Amino acid sequence: MPEDIIIQFQNVTKKFGEHVILSNLNFEIYKNKITTILGFSGAGKSTLLKIILGLVHPTEGAVYVLGQDLSKLGDFPLREFRRNFGMVFQYAALFDSMTAYQNVEFPLKEFTNLRPSERDHKVRHLLTSVGIDDFGMKKLPSELSGGMRKRVGLARALALSPAIMLYDEPTTGLDPITSKMVNDLIVETAEAHKDRGLTSVIISHDIKATLKISDFIAFLDRGRIVEYLPAKDFVNSNHPLVQEFVHL
Ligand SMILES: Nc1ncnc2c1ncn2[C@@H]1O[C@H](COP(=O)(O)OP(=O)(O)O)[C@@H](O)[C@H]1O
Ligand SMILES: [Mg+2]
Repeated sequence: MPEDIIIQFQNVTKKFGEHVILSNLNFEIYKNKITTILGFSGAGKSTLLKIILGLVHPTEGAVYVLGQDLSKLGDFPLREFRRNFGMVFQYAALFDSMTAYQNVEFPLKEFTNLRPSERDHKVRHLLTSVGIDDFGMKKLPSELSGGMRKRVGLARALALSPAIMLYDEPTTGLDPITSKMVNDLIVETAEAHKDRGLTSVIISHDIKATLKISDFIAFLDRGRIVEYLPAKDFVNSNHPLVQEFVHL
């Protein structure tokens, strides 16, 4: 796998029963870039993300992440391997009964041997870096706005310094101002972690934001990648579906 490739799909087909959801995908995702998989609802975007996480296995073909063939990993190694990923879900998916602070502390408690004082420092640093102050840290998810919950979810996803951040529809259901904030935060996060290397993969159907924040854009249509271009070239694609999407 060349140096600059972090995820590689080789002849990946996914079927649920007779239904072909992803059809012979061959493409790669580049290291330290922001890549968005764009497509209409039902195109297979979430399934593709689950395959990257090893939560769903291809019916045919192979997926390599950081050079590792995911199908060669058993359940336990796969679980360990998932620490390479930070996942930001559509609805933040925080633990309701834990404060913002405890939500971010959780993976550190679970997976590291940091001393309590180091852990405390790290939790505060993570939360501060996404704009949550001491006051916000003490709040339960239900006491935070949608945008704040997203920030906490992002801080939690970053806790174990993942190589790859995965965002599934990060702005769906948010108002335009909060959406802009989340998009800015994705770019700021990518920038802030550039030195150690951080790859971002976003699933989206928000064309405007995608054009603004991505380095590369793949367009998924009914299980096939019909276009894959640097973001700056995407609007000039002459694929009819891409044109339709761009002019929505
Ligand atoms: N576990 C599953 N079993 C059967 N069909 C599924 C399953 N997961 C997804 N699908 C089907 O696969 C297609 C793509 O779904 P999905 O990947 O969620 O698309 P998207 O995220 O682009 O909206 C849909 O037709 C959906 O109904
Ligand atoms: Mg989806």
